[in-house]
Amino acid sequence: MQLDLARIRNLRPQQQIHYLPSVGSTMTEAARLLAEGAPHGTLVIAEQQTAGIGRLGRSWISEPQAGLYLSVLLRLPLSPANLPIASLVLGLATAEAIHKATHVACDLRWPNDVLIGERKVAGILTHLVENFIIAGIGINVNQTSFPAGLRTPATSLRMESNGRVQAREELLLALLESLDGFCSTLQTKGSSGILRAFMSSSSYAMNRRVIVEEGGLKGLTAGLDENGFLLLRSDTGRMERIASGGIRPDRPV
Ligand code: BTN
Repeated sequence: MQLDLARIRNLRPQQQIHYLPSVGSTMTEAARLLAEGAPHGTLVIAEQQTAGIGRLGRSWISEPQAGLYLSVLLRLPLSPANLPIASLVLGLATAEAIHKATHVACDLRWPNDVLIGERKVAGILTHLVENFIIAGIGINVNQTSFPAGLRTPATSLRMESNGRVQAREELLLALLESLDGFCSTLQTKGSSGILRAFMSSSSYAMNRRVIVEEGGLKGLTAGLDENGFLLLRSDTGRMERIASGGIRPDRPV
């Protein structure tokens, strides 16, 4: 079923919403709108992406009408030094929205994988363009299966709630509200409010054995620094600051 956009537009009259039945990637469409002067909060949402973009040059499978595929333009009070905070804001907002709309609890894996157990239910991409962040969020909502051999196994909210079809509109509304909420936490409490929220929402933030995807460094997670970078007590005993890439569990073979 198509998204009931009229309902979203009614409840979010202040937001510029661009709805596309099909697009290559909402990221490129959002970048085009930004170049034309679109304001903070502009939303691009598609029923289907034919060339969905994932992190680290991967692709994002975007089955028609099954998930939420969107990009939002955000102007946040962040400097280039503490830009990772933006990723944390987006992960927190996505996990909170999922919980509010579906009662499914999620875990966060730095910088912004949204997981249920060890399976990925949502992915987030941030592109910095001048002083805007183009935030791409993909949530697996009503998929019933995924291709085998994904780097991180995937799941959907439907698969995690005994096959119940989830209303994408409720989830989208919750997501837009949670984004407003965490953006205003950042405005009023600064980065420390976001860091605290992430530390209490992520089982990966402390004392987890992980491997860094870029470079293969291994060690135990040791929290975040003030800019949102991950701290890792590496196996050599040194405290490392991880600035990019992602992490995954490091299991003995
Ligand atoms: C990841 O690899 O974890 C990030 C995935 C981000 C996917 C979303 S779907 C909406 C937006 N448009 C894209 O092409 N990618 C992001």
